[in-house]
Amino acid sequence: MRPRHFLTLNDLSRDELDFVLRRARDLKALQQAGTPHESLRGKVLGMVFEKSSTRTRVSFEAGMAQLGGSAIFLSPRDSQLGRGEPVEDTARVLSRMLDAVMIRTFAHETLERFAAHSRVPVINGLSDDHHPCQLLADIQAFQEHRGDLDGRTVTWVGDGNNMCNSYIEAAGIFDFQLNIACPEGFDPDEGLLKQAGDRARIVRNPAEAVRGASLVVTDVWASMGQEDEQAHRERAFADYQVTEELMAQAADDAIFMHCLPAHRGEEVAAGVIDGEQSVVWDEAENRLHAQKALLEFLLLGQEQATQR
Ligand code: CP
Ligand code: NVA
Repeated sequence: MRPRHFLTLNDLSRDELDFVLRRARDLKALQQAGTPHESLRGKVLGMVFEKSSTRTRVSFEAGMAQLGGSAIFLSPRDSQLGRGEPVEDTARVLSRMLDAVMIRTFAHETLERFAAHSRVPVINGLSDDHHPCQLLADIQAFQEHRGDLDGRTVTWVGDGNNMCNSYIEAAGIFDFQLNIACPEGFDPDEGLLKQAGDRARIVRNPAEAVRGASLVVTDVWASMGQEDEQAHRERAFADYQVTEELMAQAADDAIFMHCLPAHRGEEVAAGVIDGEQSVVWDEAENRLHAQKALLEFLLLGQEQATQR
């Protein structure tokens, strides 16, 4: 049987994502109560990081340990990947030894090539085009604070980057309206926008875009791999900072999210990220719980995951 992968949010159906999110909530409660939940005893996750990470690495590694399994960290610097071994060959070999592989890479196509040659589930830990694991954590955090996203308005402020693309997919699946306030020249993926239809639209003016929003989200102006563009991007995004004034124009009960790491004084004002509307620490913590639920789902399927 071919393994299930999680390269973008759309790799799982709405029902499956709902299942993972419910299980994430249960796993969070188990973890907080100190109740053992070793559903993945003996299983090993490989983690390939071609870009830096704090949250993704720690949440996957700690998550596997808490589920009774273990994780192996691999970087191109100290594996044969950095010396030109083809992705396809690495996939064939790693997937004969491991139970799942998480990859953080540049080109999304690298993940697709790896997955096509893998016998075990492959998880996208961030590519240039998508960051689906972060969306699981964000949706869990929204549900905790405000309930379901269906019918709500969410506003993305800033770069039309990997996170923004994953929000566009989420809008289609979870049935919310996504307003995207990005400067011209920094639009998200056109194909994804088309697919989302009227669920996602670009609204250049941030003040207009946040009107009625229950959730305001932003991310860095220069993503990993775009460090050389920092100065140019700071100029282009100068009017796209999430400030207290901007938050005041969203819905009264609006909350703020950021996948982190954040740059206070650039994409977000300190008063917002450190203020009362911010749920960024819950959001970050949920990476752990949501990915544990995802790992269980991909490795055990729905029935076995709930029986343990
Ligand atoms: N949000 C996120 O993916 O963080 P890291 O880059 O620290 O993994
Ligand atoms: N857009 C950011 C997200 C970091 C978690 C980046 O790709 O660097």
